[in-house]
Amino acid sequence: MVKKYKYGNPIETEAVIADISEENGVIEKVKFENNCFVYNMNDKTKVYGLGEANRGINKRGYKYVSYCTDDPSHTEDKESLYGAHNFIIIDGEEKLGIFFDNPGRVTFDIGYTKKNEIRVTPENIDMYVYVISADNKNDIVREFRKIIGKSYVAPKWAFGFGQSRWSYENKDRVDAVVKGYEDNDMLISSIYMDIDYMVDYKDFTVNEERFPNFKEYVRSLRDKGIRLVPIIDAGVKIEDGYDVYEEGVKNNYFVKDKEGKDYVTAVWPGLTHFPDFLNADVRKWFGDKYKILTDMGIEGFWNDMNEPAIFYSQNKVDEIREEIEKLTSENDDKLLDLRWKFSELANNIDDYKSMYHNINGVKVNHNKVHNLYGYNMSRAAGEAFKRIDKDKEYLMFSRASYIGMHRYAGIWLGDNCSWWSHILLNLKMLPSLNMCGFLYIGADIGGFGCNATEDLVMRWLALGVFTPLMRNHSAMGTRNQECYNFEDTEAFKNIIDVRYRLLPFIYDEYKKAIENDDLMFKPLSFVYEDDEMAGEIEDQLILGDIMIAPVYTQNTSGRYVYLPEDMTFVKFMKDGKIYKEPLKAGIHYVKVAVNEVPLFIRNGRNIKVVKESVIKDKSLRKSIMDCSVEYSEEDFEII
Ligand code: GLC
Repeated sequence: MVKKYKYGNPIETEAVIADISEENGVIEKVKFENNCFVYNMNDKTKVYGLGEANRGINKRGYKYVSYCTDDPSHTEDKESLYGAHNFIIIDGEEKLGIFFDNPGRVTFDIGYTKKNEIRVTPENIDMYVYVISADNKNDIVREFRKIIGKSYVAPKWAFGFGQSRWSYENKDRVDAVVKGYEDNDMLISSIYMDIDYMVDYKDFTVNEERFPNFKEYVRSLRDKGIRLVPIIDAGVKIEDGYDVYEEGVKNNYFVKDKEGKDYVTAVWPGLTHFPDFLNADVRKWFGDKYKILTDMGIEGFWNDMNEPAIFYSQNKVDEIREEIEKLTSENDDKLLDLRWKFSELANNIDDYKSMYHNINGVKVNHNKVHNLYGYNMSRAAGEAFKRIDKDKEYLMFSRASYIGMHRYAGIWLGDNCSWWSHILLNLKMLPSLNMCGFLYIGADIGGFGCNATEDLVMRWLALGVFTPLMRNHSAMGTRNQECYNFEDTEAFKNIIDVRYRLLPFIYDEYKKAIENDDLMFKPLSFVYEDDEMAGEIEDQLILGDIMIAPVYTQNTSGRYVYLPEDMTFVKFMKDGKIYKEPLKAGIHYVKVAVNEVPLFIRNGRNIKVVKESVIKDKSLRKSIMDCSVEYSEEDFEII
């Protein structure tokens, strides 16, 4: 049962699309005091949800702030990441799902200030609150997913392995990646184009010097089974003669300042304006621009910098310049303050508070609707794809997001690092994101920032073989982490082969989860409800008939696992063979070498995987890579 409550004067976020009538009274079981929603837990209550958030699957014991933030250092103390997903499930004596549909800043104190208290504090109270009660947490998820609408369906080819880096800045670099994978006989379905494919980082341009005959190039890679996937950034470069900029200015399509002038910020292209995606006309205009690239044969995109990320703004620079002059004229002791002043330039809250949207003719301060920005950028694209070709599935995933965006796009988990702890963080976010409707998801495998090591990339891939988006991506200046750049290329080849062997299973699980409004990745506690130990496991997940339990520590040759029921331990070995060992319920130490992919088959179940000989069949290489291959029954083996 879902109940809807209204507070103040809410913005219609369109996160929920079901028509639910408003209750008259106050929320039962949740107190509302001093602008804060308070719920009393007992010692055993668990709290799930919050989508792309830090820390555990059980969110108890910390504080999370919903405010889409471009912060590339996801250390344990961070309260905000790129997404804002205000849905929690309280799993105590009573089971409740609560969605706080508030696109401004919302703080979730989940037993941080007081051990047994949840305190949800919005910066402004204008919001709807949806309260879902059901007998169990799986039903709560289903009820919630029903009211927010079906999740975006990614094309099947987007389940193939993808290689990315900031940046393959010209055709030669992309060709080198193709060759690297080809020479090592490794399968690859997509190569990602980062900002350098554009002319001076101008959206919807292609630098013809770096990528001559782009349309032809896209087709030639497509003929090999590889798709090129370009990035689109939120900020539009201010430059006379650039049509997107000029049209935006002429039609008042950009976010404004208080006086109604186009707000000036700087991102990758230098000075930019932000399109006002919260306005339907702007969405249509910007969305239609994707056609420039789809006309060149592009079938997928990633939307970036859409929190929106701000490097600095004209206003803030002027303000800080003055302060710096004051500081330097005082005395040299103040030099340290200078350093802090510079770091205040990026993503400054004063900027977010100085920007204005035009939502259906009403001027709305950006800070109040901050979390809707990335959502509506991707919605612009999603809506445009339906106009461009309503029967075609395009790939679209975004960095910033809010619930509602899950109907138009997937997400990637932003700028993580080549840290072992980030393999685990990647795993933990999967079920939490599924609860909030995001099914097409994945992290930068191998880590975006910092230098990756061979073993880290291999171990991470052994988790990535299960995630819908399986993309290796890394930052400029870091060690090259394409699979062919490490020593044991044979092992990498085999791990990637495992992905393609599992692909029909993964894709099926993904589609089923969408159809049934279900989790694709379930915490053990969602499957083994009465098993207390299962409720505490945070590094294993259930995926249909299997359990996954990757190794995420360096210099280990295995890991401990808890089996809530008898299971068969399966390893895809380096030589392509499959190792199987029946194990009894309980705790086990399982050996998993760095070049092996482990999984566990649940008691009495099985899954179908493509035979190794089929994946190795050279005549099928192209159709396997573009995921168009039609397997017949004899192409599978049952494990
Ligand atoms: C941002 C993105 C990252 C991209 C970089 C350059 O940091 O999160 O994926 O590579 O910008 O465009």
